[in-house]
Amino acid sequence: MSVRRLAEEQFQPAAFAFNAENATWAEATIRKYPAGRQQSAVIPLLMRAQEQEGWVTKAAIEYVAEKLDMPYIRVLEVATFYTQFQLKPVGTRAHIQVCGTTPCMLRGAEDLIHVCKSKIHPEPFERNADGTLSWEEVECQGACVNAPMVMIFKDAYEDLTVTQLEHIIDRFAAGKGADIKPGPQVDRIFSAPVGGPTTLTDDIQPIRFTDTPAPAKTEEAAVPPANAAKPVTDAPETDTKLKTPATAKKAAAENVKLKGDSADTARPVEKEAAPAPASVMDEKNRPAGIERPETPDDLKMISGVGPKIEATLNGLGIYKFEQIAKWKKAEREWVDTYLKFSGRIERDDWVKQAKALAKGGEAEYIKVFGKKPR
Ligand code: FES
Repeated sequence: MSVRRLAEEQFQPAAFAFNAENATWAEATIRKYPAGRQQSAVIPLLMRAQEQEGWVTKAAIEYVAEKLDMPYIRVLEVATFYTQFQLKPVGTRAHIQVCGTTPCMLRGAEDLIHVCKSKIHPEPFERNADGTLSWEEVECQGACVNAPMVMIFKDAYEDLTVTQLEHIIDRFAAGKGADIKPGPQVDRIFSAPVGGPTTLTDDIQPIRFTDTPAPAKTEEAAVPPANAAKPVTDAPETDTKLKTPATAKKAAAENVKLKGDSADTARPVEKEAAPAPASVMDEKNRPAGIERPETPDDLKMISGVGPKIEATLNGLGIYKFEQIAKWKKAEREWVDTYLKFSGRIERDDWVKQAKALAKGGEAEYIKVFGKKPR
């Protein structure tokens, strides 16, 4: 944990004031609190000041103190305590806060810090040559289940590998950070288990709140409610439909097996597959990306691509069937390794599917494969 002090005087602007929009917002925010409790607005006001200026200046701290009728030292204490507040100028496109606390450290945070050192600057809080990027190590950000992770301004990027963080940094450096979806960078919902549910996978009974006797147990009782959380998977629907306790167990077992083949298998760092040979992940093998077109294709029509994988592909600049249709072997291997797909791109024959979809959409797909795309 670094010592948090205000920036040197030479960086400090002479004054600070909210612009008109933020001033209106601040008045409304302060009014949310009961009379005599307006000081509770100190964190939102400091955050807004940071968003306006890019960092929290001494003048902004004084301004907020005056606005909330607080002693200056009280606001200074808040600003210097929380690492969400930047006390000196940081990268204009991204300030990457790498969690270095135990769970993240055990799952590879040190490697992520090396990435920041090599791609941004050897020292924390120092900006890269064009002032767009900076980084620091911070304490636990409360996303330990999805370790290792980084915060970039208000967003968390979780379940990271070195390759993924390199890609995220590249996108932010190019001003395309919005292409990267925050949250887990593997196929899971929030902090749900990777690979789908691991408990309550059979004999699921609805909770009853009345004294009405429960109906006799039937096979249908084991069917999960329609609004039950759906296992996170890009696998075909049929793999997750549980019909009876017996088939539920079988399906769960098959699901685990299936996920073992997918990109999204739980991956404790110590058991992570050996890094791919450098030749496979060589940057020259990475498929060329494009800017997001006005009408991106629905890549989910390709069997094996679900919403999460589609978002990851979009993050690589892959939006059109015709791009995938042109992938050479080396490019397929690069993407397969990147997604930890263990050969699934070949097995599902993405290229053939993409060629058909690029050529004639659903009709051509049916002609080639004899069935509708997903
Ligand atoms: S240890 Fe990294 S988020 Fe908690």
